[in-house]
Amino acid sequence: YVGYGLIFIGAYLLGCFSSSYFLGRWFLKDDVRNYGSGNAGATNMTRVFGISYGLLALVMDALKGVIAALVGTWLLGPVGGYVGALGAIVGHNWPVFMKFKGGKGIATSIGALLVLMPIPMLIIIASLVILLFITGYVSLSSILGAASVPIYAAISGYGGTPFLVFAILVAAMALFSHRQNIVRLIKGEEKRFTWESLKKK
Ligand code: G3P
Repeated sequence: YVGYGLIFIGAYLLGCFSSSYFLGRWFLKDDVRNYGSGNAGATNMTRVFGISYGLLALVMDALKGVIAALVGTWLLGPVGGYVGALGAIVGHNWPVFMKFKGGKGIATSIGALLVLMPIPMLIIIASLVILLFITGYVSLSSILGAASVPIYAAISGYGGTPFLVFAILVAAMALFSHRQNIVRLIKGEEKRFTWESLKKK
């Protein structure tokens, strides 16, 4: 178990590198967590600083998941990949260097899942993008996307019990980190993305 522990810790530290926070600090001299939803993630970067910074944060945070899942798999096989992915997501959501106030883990989860189950993940991403265009809610897409991973794992049997456990943990973390979004969605108070809001930046 020592190996898995080391993978988790290494991936956690990688996950702690919050690209939204550092992009803001380095290039904009500002902390994205002071604006919008207060989240250090690609969605809020887009909302506050525009689509270019948002996409950059999305790619950089996704890369953390890619690297953690790849390195974990290389070192200790599939379960190593799952442990690495979980470490990176936990680090992204609760970074030790940022008073544990990070992001919601969706970009990082997407990166990891693209490594761990590429084809199904591409299909999930495509569905979520369509849903986002229809509803304008990134959070709704994130929540449904996260929930669909354990459902897919249970139905397909892909990766057996270890992958199912991993998928449930990924979905649980996503639901937990989106708890305020869920309340806002139910109350009809969640902010939508519109083309106009993107063009303004
Ligand atoms: O991935 C985060 C997204 O689902 C919600 O972000 O800033 O609207 O809370 P935000």
